[in-house]
Amino acid sequence: MGFLQFLLWTPAVIVFVAVAVKIYFKAITGICKSKKRVDGQVAIITGANSGIGYEAAKELARRGAKVILACRSIDKARKACDEINKSTNTSNAVPKELDVSDMSSVRKFAAEVLKEETRLDILVNNAGVAGLRKNILDNGLEYQFATNHFGPFLLTNLLMGLMIKTGKARIIAVSSVAHTWTKTLDLDNLNAEKFWEPKLLYARTKLCNILFTKELARRLKAAGHSGIVANAINPGGVKTAIFRHARKAFKYMVMVSQIYFKTPWEGAQPTIDIAVSEEVEGITGEYWENCKRSEPSELAQNEQLAKDLWEKSASLVQLKPEEYHL
Ligand SMILES: NC(=O)c1ccc[n+]([C@@H]2O[C@H](COP(=O)([O-])OP(=O)(O)OC[C@H]3O[C@@H](n4cnc5c(N)ncnc54)[C@H](OP(=O)(O)O)[C@@H]3O)[C@@H](O)[C@H]2O)c1
Ligand SMILES: *[C@@H]1O[C@H](CO)[C@@H](O)[C@H](O)[C@H]1NC(C)=O
Ligand SMILES: *[C@@H]1O[C@H](CO)[C@@H](O)[C@H](O)[C@H]1NC(C)=O
Repeated sequence: MGFLQFLLWTPAVIVFVAVAVKIYFKAITGICKSKKRVDGQVAIITGANSGIGYEAAKELARRGAKVILACRSIDKARKACDEINKSTNTSNAVPKELDVSDMSSVRKFAAEVLKEETRLDILVNNAGVAGLRKNILDNGLEYQFATNHFGPFLLTNLLMGLMIKTGKARIIAVSSVAHTWTKTLDLDNLNAEKFWEPKLLYARTKLCNILFTKELARRLKAAGHSGIVANAINPGGVKTAIFRHARKAFKYMVMVSQIYFKTPWEGAQPTIDIAVSEEVEGITGEYWENCKRSEPSELAQNEQLAKDLWEKSASLVQLKPEEYHL
């Protein structure tokens, strides 16, 4: 082959391969096949004003649930509810203020929900942040860890009484394949108590999502609440703003790989599937990828670590005896 021909064909081959790979990824993407409606149910989705949470909120509203969009900006929540109410021709989307990184905001939110709602069928711990700079809160919690793990831990415990009263409920943790990046979890350094090690911080928070889910499932079983199930999902790579705070090099890497990422609608499918589908009925403590059961990392399956993380988290968020249900 002449040099000119080579120059001509190389880009064509690259584009062809790229398109083929894209088509392949589209084909294996998990889409929720269940048509199940959830009329009369109440759902809470944290961080539902954008990305995966927004698309999941819209779909649950379309399927008939009252969906509380729990967001740190009430204005963004209202705007999202307005869009969802319009596009679903319902009034199912309801805004409510919640800063999941702030334990007093979590307590205030939960107290209001317990007062206003008579049931809770679906709880999606979706809000998350990644790649932020060091920020230790006044209570000693690290901000990213507080947002991705401690807040959801506290919120879930505080809402447990309502879910027990409802009898049947589904708790979903939006984790990530990033949980596999870390091979260790030092429970005495979750909040940079010993040293600041930002590289795998996000990964550790996503690992904690799975460990928490598994321990939660074990405790629910042990307490006889078999109708309440807890599962963790990996939504896959999704084109959202989650890495907007990350360092430049990482951001560029994400930008390039985004041509293969899912749309937010596709990325919300696993959340929707685990929230509604008949196939998930009674299944608990599992990790799902593309709407299929999958195996998380070895560390994520460490029962002792999960137990210890629960105890540590309960003590760090100062879970009071009256807030304990499990
Ligand atoms: N995108 C991916 O490729 C990917 C992959 C695996 C896992 N995930 C997980 O998916 C979840 C959703 O992320 P996304 O990709 O949809 O990103 P996103 O569009 O940035 O959505 C994150 C949401 O969380 C909210 N949030 C952040 N901090 C909060 C706080 N303190 N209190 C209440 N809400 C807060 C954000 O609110 P604001 O609009 O106010 O910032 C936003 O609505 C995250 O848990 C993430 O770890 C994403
Ligand atoms: C929207 O819902 C209302 C009442 O539920 C109904 O009367 C109306 O026809 C619906 N509009 C559309 C466009 O479906
Ligand atoms: C959507 O409808 C619900 C129920 O009527 C209402 O509480 C909520 O404020 C509506 N959202 C917006 C922003 O219109």
